[in-house]
Amino acid sequence: MSHVALVTGGTRGIGEAISVALKNAGVTVAANYAGNDERAQAFSERTGIAVYKFDVGDFDAVQDSIAKISDDLGVVDILVNNAGITRDGTLLKMDHTRWQDVIDVNLGGCFNTAKAAFPAMKEKGYGRIVNIGSINGQAGQYGQVNYAAAKSGIHGFTKALAQEGARFGITVNAIAPGYIDTDMVAAVPENVLEKIVAKIPVGRLGKAEEIARGVAFLTAEDAGFVTGSTLSINGGQHMY
Ligand code: CAA
Repeated sequence: MSHVALVTGGTRGIGEAISVALKNAGVTVAANYAGNDERAQAFSERTGIAVYKFDVGDFDAVQDSIAKISDDLGVVDILVNNAGITRDGTLLKMDHTRWQDVIDVNLGGCFNTAKAAFPAMKEKGYGRIVNIGSINGQAGQYGQVNYAAAKSGIHGFTKALAQEGARFGITVNAIAPGYIDTDMVAAVPENVLEKIVAKIPVGRLGKAEEIARGVAFLTAEDAGFVTGSTLSINGGQHMY
């Protein structure tokens, strides 16, 4: 069976590694991005992967874009919800915009893309949805009430949708990455990051490719019995 994947936030960081891993697995990939045209174009030229610009937090834009991707490449039967932003700050300093932006993109994005892609997966009788959560959605993190709430929401969303998708051949799983060597983590103040890394038993940040490896596993045709699960890839930082 041939497959088409949409990877949101798929041109940089963890998303870039996921897009490349899926392409290497023989999947036709559409990589979404929201802002950085220059990096998206460079990514596309380097990898030969098609890029699509839209805001995953915008319901109508997502509907239109997934329809376009399906016209261009075929039915999207693999969806990887990876797009995410941080707007860190303690509750006392966090204004409503920082709360809402993170909820809209990180959690709302999962609803918007699944809502648009699910009907065609149902019709095909096959689908793979992987939502990228976070260790900080499992364990919480100082300065991240917005991000932790959104990521924790992703884990609940995953388990609920897995129950709905099962009878249509659609699996829905989550990955909970720990601290991965990306621009997002590089933005954490150095003194704070040092303390975090000191608590990772493996003794280092993760690599984007180590998350992509998990996505390749969960999106494979022979992973049909794995659904509603959360795969923690965090160097042992949080075990449960
Ligand atoms: N636990 C308890 N107290 C803490 C703390 C912690 N983890 N971190 C900071 N504090 C304390 C500080 O010691 C300080 O106390 P004092 O005033 O008594 O000195 C107080 O809280 C204020 O701390 P800051 O000066 O750091 O406050 P700030 O407002 O300047 O910054 C912050 C707060 C933005 C949260 C900053 O600490 C920060 O960026 N932390 C990192 C947050 C983080 O891990 N983000 C992850 C981003 S990557 C990601 O999210 C990917 C993923 O999925 C893993």
